[in-house]
Amino acid sequence: GGDGVLTGKRVVITAGPTREPIDPVRYITNHSSGKMGYALAAAARAAGARVVLISGPVSLAAPAGVEVRPVTTAEDMLAAAGRAVDEGCDIFIAAAAVADYRPGAVAEQKIKKSADDMTLALVRNPDTLATVAAREDAPYCVGFAAETTEVARYATDKMVRKKLAMIIANDVSQPGIGFNSDNNAVTVFWPGGQRSLGPAAKQVLAADLVQLIAERSSQGRDG
Ligand code: PMT
Repeated sequence: GGDGVLTGKRVVITAGPTREPIDPVRYITNHSSGKMGYALAAAARAAGARVVLISGPVSLAAPAGVEVRPVTTAEDMLAAAGRAVDEGCDIFIAAAAVADYRPGAVAEQKIKKSADDMTLALVRNPDTLATVAAREDAPYCVGFAAETTEVARYATDKMVRKKLAMIIANDVSQPGIGFNSDNNAVTVFWPGGQRSLGPAAKQVLAADLVQLIAERSSQGRDG
């Protein structure tokens, strides 16, 4: 695009779930469909940005003009995001629902059933968004917060802890929005302000979010 609000900007977006292997045939994941992140990628592209979309396993087509880089695990996502930011990034948006934990060891062979109980030992995954936001050359970083209770408090806590410029809070306890639905409703927080958007189709919401991100990021981190 020639005169969009993000013309000349480089935007990196994460989307979808991650998939953490247990053995050759099993994995841990979540209900993220990728719809929110893909809608943001399409909206950022429509606003004139060069967009790299780092995507966990989803069944969505690549948005036109967007470079999709597929990943599987949280560790893959961290590595791909690091590379994409190294290449140049003005705005980083983390819409992915990353598994917080992965199996500590991946069994080489299919785990056979035997005892009535079994325990899976999990270890913490790296945090892609926090890692990008902690860089010396950090882009304008936008996170999501999917919460079921005390949405505003947990979301703003996350913004401060992860050193984000903005956080988009999703109340995923509400039916019909959030994970895997076509619609969403969010409250966006930044230091010193907030705005509620939706309920609306994820495409409509994404266009509004891109406008807001473009406005606020052009005023600098603390503007
Ligand atoms: O994909 P859809 O079906 O369209 O659903 C959209 C969504 C509900 C998944 C999306 O709107 C959303 O809220 N994504 C964030 C989901 C989440 O669980 O976030 P969180 O509160 O665990 O993480 C906070 C932020 O840190 C997020 O921006 C997340 O991408 C990022 N993060 C978290 C953990 C981790 N290891 N690495 C990360 O980058």
